[in-house]
Amino acid sequence: MTVQHQQQVKDWNGESGERWVVHQLWLDQMLGAFGAAAIDAAQPAVGETILDIGCGAGTTSFALAERVAEGHVTGVDISAQLIERAKERAGDQSNVRFLLADASNADVPPAQFDLLYSRFGVMFFDDAAGAFTHLRRALKPSGRLAFICWRGANENDWVRLPMKAIKGLIPPVVPLPADAPGPFSFGDKGRVQKILEDAGFVDVTFTPFDHDIIYGRGETNEAAIEDALAMAFELGPLSRALASESEEVRERACDAVRAAYAQQVQDGRVTINGAAWIVTALNPAD
Ligand SMILES: C[S@@+](CC[C@H](N)C(=O)[O-])C[C@H]1O[C@@H](n2cnc3c(N)ncnc32)[C@H](O)[C@@H]1O
Repeated sequence: MTVQHQQQVKDWNGESGERWVVHQLWLDQMLGAFGAAAIDAAQPAVGETILDIGCGAGTTSFALAERVAEGHVTGVDISAQLIERAKERAGDQSNVRFLLADASNADVPPAQFDLLYSRFGVMFFDDAAGAFTHLRRALKPSGRLAFICWRGANENDWVRLPMKAIKGLIPPVVPLPADAPGPFSFGDKGRVQKILEDAGFVDVTFTPFDHDIIYGRGETNEAAIEDALAMAFELGPLSRALASESEEVRERACDAVRAAYAQQVQDGRVTINGAAWIVTALNPAD
């Protein structure tokens, strides 16, 4: 296991996993339109079997299970907390199950699935081509892959605006290498195309998908801004950038980001654009 991979396992079984459990409802509201657009692109049909990669607390697995009816959905995730939450939510629902495993080497039978799907769960592999090679073997011949991933951080205003607001308050954030696992590691279309082709997929397509994210809500615009601020300081790139800063710097950053969100608020909502790719591909026929 590489150091990068160990870090991902630790993070999703530690702070990130916990925060995703605590804020599941908020994250589902934020990401709902993105996941739904990828489900529409995936065209799940009644009776199909689907693997939901990096399924988190299971929201998209449940949506897919509704579409396949008597078919079956398996959600796989590396985070014990998130899989536990998904299992609690599933209760005794019979057409969905959850597996705690690393999707890049999970023990899944070959040629079992009609569709591999993911909502923002495939950007964290340290050997992405190796992971997709492994996952492709779980697909039936002519089976489909459909996932949604973020485009670059500089195209995503929900990251760009707060990071621009704190510029100068903290030392410049050194960007991760393009191939380092992380939320924006699939922003480069050429890189993703190569990963999927190296893994043996064909007919790879990329469709840009942009959608407003309601980042904060409140009875008043001021309350919505405070809601957005609380979330940005809790989860995502801004919270990571400020994690080791002093209370004084964090307070100044808070004021700067508050001013940036004030430009985005209307009718009790802070709304910021999110920019993603919907990626589809096929497993070749036998
Ligand atoms: C950004 S979250 C998305 C979660 C979920 N798909 C959603 O949209 O709510 C990324 C998810 O990928 C999972 N993950 C990261 N690396 C993984 C791996 N190697 N195998 C399986 N899951 C992984 C994390 O634990 C996390 O739940």
